[in-house]
Amino acid sequence: MARLCVNIDHVATLRQARRGTEPDPVWAAVQAELGGADGITFHLREDRRHMQDRDIERLREVVQGPLNFELAAVDSIIDFACRIRPAMAMLVPERREEVTTEGGLDVAGQVARLRNVVAKFADHAIRASAFIDAEARQIDAARACGFSVCEIHTGPYAIAHNTHHRLDHPDVARELDRIASGGRLILDAGMQFNAGHGLNYRNVGPIAALPGVTELHIGHSIISRAVFDGLREAVREMKRLIGEASS
Ligand code: PXP
Repeated sequence: MARLCVNIDHVATLRQARRGTEPDPVWAAVQAELGGADGITFHLREDRRHMQDRDIERLREVVQGPLNFELAAVDSIIDFACRIRPAMAMLVPERREEVTTEGGLDVAGQVARLRNVVAKFADHAIRASAFIDAEARQIDAARACGFSVCEIHTGPYAIAHNTHHRLDHPDVARELDRIASGGRLILDAGMQFNAGHGLNYRNVGPIAALPGVTELHIGHSIISRAVFDGLREAVREMKRLIGEASS
């Protein structure tokens, strides 16, 4: 069964709407763990629009399971991540105007730079993951850089499903096939196959059922469900669906 890593940025987004102290993303991480989360994921953006440095220092003290630190390849944030020593550093592209991460990282376009970043993380015993589109050239480049994990961007699959509202629509099936092929290439290259972005209670099943998928990183839908059901219950229900799909 794929592990579920819960992204808590969305709790910090709500807090930052008032620039106050609640809701606390660290408390959300504790609740997510009590609901069965296998890991906690967060993104420290250069513009600090949601998570703040202090949140991450507190997460380091409180969270029991693995921490996954999402970041752009920016020196000051790389240095901070090396100090925090998460289990995994997840490299993503970042643009200030975007509402959320759009598209995968262009690993192929910056192999020399990313090779150094991955080596720096390795010196600090941090595994490096590349968030990429399901494209062979990006997967080859990730291997060339020394990444041990690739997370396939499931956004296009989620958008196709939101558009057609059916998992058996040909557009959805095409995007799922693309992710499945990417996953096979990642595994053949000896890397760990993760997936995430835009996954929710209605579309997670076919992704959780893909052979060899190790981790799913899910935030928005779980935090949204938590508004009505509470975070522990929202995590439990997502774990149940992942388990059902993989059995
Ligand atoms: N994986 C990556 C690399 C992301 O950037 C995000 C969003 O921060 C997620 C997973 C989770 O996406 P969502 O919030 O849509 O579940």
